[in-house]
Amino acid sequence: MSKMKQIAIKDIVTELVLSVSAGVAVYYIVNQLLKFVENEGGPSGLKSKDTKKKVSSTLKRLKNNPEFKKIDFNDYELFLLESVVTPEEINISFNDIGGLDNIIDDLKESVLLPLTFPDLFQSYSSLLQAPKGVLLYGPPGCGKTMLAKALANESGANFLSIKMSSIMDKWYGESNKLVSAIFSLANKLQPCIIFIDEIDSFLRKRESNDHEITSTIKAEFMSLWDGLISSGRILVLGATNRPNDIDSAFLRRMPKKFQINKPNEEQRSKILRILLKDTKIDDELFDWQTIIEMTEGFTGSDLKELCRDAAMVIMREYIQKNLKSSNGSIEFLHLNTVANEKPTSGDNDRFDVRGLRTTDFDFASHKKLLVNSV
Ligand SMILES: Nc1ncnc2c1ncn2[C@@H]1O[C@H](COP(=O)(O)OP(=O)(O)O)[C@@H](O)[C@H]1O
Ligand SMILES: [Mg+2]
Repeated sequence: MSKMKQIAIKDIVTELVLSVSAGVAVYYIVNQLLKFVENEGGPSGLKSKDTKKKVSSTLKRLKNNPEFKKIDFNDYELFLLESVVTPEEINISFNDIGGLDNIIDDLKESVLLPLTFPDLFQSYSSLLQAPKGVLLYGPPGCGKTMLAKALANESGANFLSIKMSSIMDKWYGESNKLVSAIFSLANKLQPCIIFIDEIDSFLRKRESNDHEITSTIKAEFMSLWDGLISSGRILVLGATNRPNDIDSAFLRRMPKKFQINKPNEEQRSKILRILLKDTKIDDELFDWQTIIEMTEGFTGSDLKELCRDAAMVIMREYIQKNLKSSNGSIEFLHLNTVANEKPTSGDNDRFDVRGLRTTDFDFASHKKLLVNSV
């Protein structure tokens, strides 16, 4: 064979090797991509686009954490990932909650610390594990859900927020598989708080006319719950407005109970100061004490609505005075000019909106709402 021919064959072989290996590489990449799409997209059960989006973003966030990188999730766990909130997604801290300092201190000591430093507590005594269950109870709108979120945020735990009713409805035949997925997922995501809001709707007193499946699921839930002894880094946190409706067997599994009542004067004062912390106030004509006294019987959520409406009064007044033309329409052009003026000064001063006064609060109509809602 001539040298020329030898070189040509060599070239062809090299090219062949190259193209084959390129082909193989392409095959692998496509394969990985397909797998990625499959995994990221979740199982076929995840139909809705929003669900898929939420699941894949949670999955990505979890996979960014080296602790969870290698974990695989089964279909049911993937479905539940929609209900997982990672600590970095929660923007509520204990500082946002007014008037519940005693409860927060107790939660920190008896729940948060054992959950985050189980070794410290258990090395001293096995009695000092985090409780497996904690119940927050009291009237609606007083901060139970807030407290649960802050707890997850401040402990750095993953937060698995379960709406039991939707599981029972949507997954009727398969809900027992989902119940076991709740615990297996929590196990994979430790430290993890399993939060069941309106827990009464799920763990209510067992009745003889309960559907067979419902009672099987409750039994399954209890036995999985009992199986949580090992690590102490998983907590079932329940919240309810109706503690009396909860089965006593379940109540016993939540040894720590916190009653969260409507706020008293001192607590209302703290909540109001949090709610109004970035609202401009007219120091001369704003009387905290009057507002605190006039809001007897208000929940935290009622206080928020009251303050929101009061702030709106001022906005409406401003719009009326500055932005309405003679025919009554709002002039966005003018608003744009004002918005572009003096951009360096403080936000509050920029638009020259007046501060909040006691007279901006419409206690009477909000009280009427309270009475009607009872
Ligand atoms: N103690 C509180 N401190 C500050 N805000 C509160 C408080 N309680 C209630 N709120 C306000 O009311 C809203 C509803 O509270 P939430 O925690 O959902 O009540 P619950 O779960 O007890 O029904 C909260 O998002 C918050 O704005
Ligand atoms: Mg709630």
